[in-house]
Amino acid sequence: MSTTGRYTITAALPYTNGPIHIGHLAGVYVPADIYSRYLRITGNDVAFICGSDEHGAAIPMRAKKEGVSPKVIIDKYHAIIKKSFSDFGISFDNYSRTSAPIHHETASEFFKKMYEDDKFIEETSEQLYDPEANQFLADRFVTGTCPKCGHEEAYGDQCEKCGSSLNATDLINPKSTISGAKPVLKQTKHWFLPLDQYEDFLKEWILKGHKKDWKPNVYGQIKSWIDDGLRPRAVTRDLDWGIPVPVEGAEGKVLYVWFDAPIGYISSTKEWAAREGKDWEPYWKDKDTKLVHFIGKDNIVFHCIIFPSMLKAEGSYVLPENVPANEFLNLEGNKLSTSKNWAVWLHEYLEEFPDKQDVLRYVLTANAPETKDNDFTWKDFQARNNNELVAIFGNFINRVVVLTHKYYNGIIPTPDTFSEVDEQTLKELRAYPAVISSSIERYRFREASQELMNVARLGNKYLADEEPWKLIKTDEARTKTVMYVALQIASALATLSEPFLPFTSSKLKHILDQSAIQWNDVAKKEVLLSEGHQIQKGELLFSKIEDSDIQKQLDKLEATKKANEAENKAVEPQKDTATFDDFTKLDLRVGIIVEAEKMPKTKKLLVLKVDTGINTRTIVSGIAEHFTPEEVIGKKVTVLVNLAPRKLRGVESEGMILMTETPQGKLVFLNPDEDDVNAGAVIS
Ligand code: 2FM
Ligand code: ZN
Repeated sequence: MSTTGRYTITAALPYTNGPIHIGHLAGVYVPADIYSRYLRITGNDVAFICGSDEHGAAIPMRAKKEGVSPKVIIDKYHAIIKKSFSDFGISFDNYSRTSAPIHHETASEFFKKMYEDDKFIEETSEQLYDPEANQFLADRFVTGTCPKCGHEEAYGDQCEKCGSSLNATDLINPKSTISGAKPVLKQTKHWFLPLDQYEDFLKEWILKGHKKDWKPNVYGQIKSWIDDGLRPRAVTRDLDWGIPVPVEGAEGKVLYVWFDAPIGYISSTKEWAAREGKDWEPYWKDKDTKLVHFIGKDNIVFHCIIFPSMLKAEGSYVLPENVPANEFLNLEGNKLSTSKNWAVWLHEYLEEFPDKQDVLRYVLTANAPETKDNDFTWKDFQARNNNELVAIFGNFINRVVVLTHKYYNGIIPTPDTFSEVDEQTLKELRAYPAVISSSIERYRFREASQELMNVARLGNKYLADEEPWKLIKTDEARTKTVMYVALQIASALATLSEPFLPFTSSKLKHILDQSAIQWNDVAKKEVLLSEGHQIQKGELLFSKIEDSDIQKQLDKLEATKKANEAENKAVEPQKDTATFDDFTKLDLRVGIIVEAEKMPKTKKLLVLKVDTGINTRTIVSGIAEHFTPEEVIGKKVTVLVNLAPRKLRGVESEGMILMTETPQGKLVFLNPDEDDVNAGAVIS
């Protein structure tokens, strides 16, 4: 069982280069929220901290793509992300952003302190440089083959396939993501964190200290990095987007995003403490504070090696107690991807399922990628809603509330003597807080959510066995006892569901009119709802999700898949070289289609009369599946007029109309759309 203590709980700061999706929620924010809510209601002092990660290469890249400034991008996505978190009940004590002045100050101070304490190596070395874009290349600005696993799309700081942390110069065949150019090497000065000097500390701290209680997937990754040997890592960059390096001789350089972002946890805590009139320091510096980082697996190296080394180097901070990183969630068998739009975006989900925040929270918890990558499918989402939340949890509560109103006008009845079954049921009920606590405290949220569902199962089984709807006809006193016991189970569910299903829990607490019942009361108190207590009329807690709702989501994904396939159609390789003479042989003219009709008995062919300026001639064109004859009449087109005539289905075609294709496979004309270009104009 938990002891009362002080916890600083952080959830990875999301990049503000796009909205957030179910993968983020499942991997980081729902588990972090369950943990924080649980600790609060069991009497702990909790600072649950997050904010937007607004530096790094991803932001200016997205800005460039959208043709706006980075500030427009961070403001837009910061607002969308913050709203999504609040809509899903993620109960941060503070949600800040790394563009906030408090963060710039905190990160600069942190760097300066390390600089003054001589914790960096200052070194001029050769780094990758894009000679076309005139920019140094690091992190997301460069891709190449991972030297560890051979993945061809590894980034300059990390390979997403094998999780290795890289320096840009490690990449084999590097390529600039800005211009596609092959980088050259150019000298530049940077400050490096000598991670090799922290190896002994890390070994002692994690490999010995946390061997047993850290998740095997996290521990295993760290061990293999440390075993491989750590190397100094640059913590500054030649970029114009980020926090300026706060020392002399560093003009035009900014802090590496992974240096500043984790310090964002500290600045967000400071912002919260100032607002609440608290002191932030104990939350980071008191040795009894437990610091827990919730992250996805791609962030392990930063939270378990780099940030702890920074905290250690600075000297006055506590180190993380645990880093319960999750694996990844896939969607319908494919990797979630922002760029491919392969995702369920939280803001879009809420448009389709406006009152089902808890359903998504539940499904993502019950199927969380805790020990291995997992798949989210809409069918599973529907099944868990209909067969678990509606049929087990909702059904139990509904029966209890309806019967209490029907038999007793909503007043908790006075029980008669408890039978052995009643005693046994109440005993089982009282054991659940400890069972669920134990799962949560070991970061096993899937297991915890299933134990919660077992409380509802206990209630359902009890009602099904005792059948109060039959008893009421023969034994009023026994019915009262059964309903009394069932109401205690309902009350326990209202309290125990709070970390997992906060919206449902609060609805249920409202129905049962119970605000004061605490987690530990469920185990300790004989009576949760006492006789004579009046409950409210109920609303249904959950509702069925129909096949048509699910089909709609599947259709949406299918459309995304098609659009992606079309976009990915390979660009055809360039043909063999044509000489200028070859080209001048082609006589290309502007033509105007003056007549059009379908070629009888064919699907694809239109017979066109085209005014080429030279004459009006017949051209047979394979465009009938894309255009009706009426649509093409009057169109200005590009015609190859000296193509040798040939017969198609018995009709002589004297030329060819040039076309191209959209990614979706639709044909389009190459039409010179200036008004004063006439038929017959030569194209050269
Ligand atoms: O991977 C990411 O989305 C990063 N923005 C996480 C940062 S976590 C922290 F250290 F700030
Ligand atoms: Zn790799």
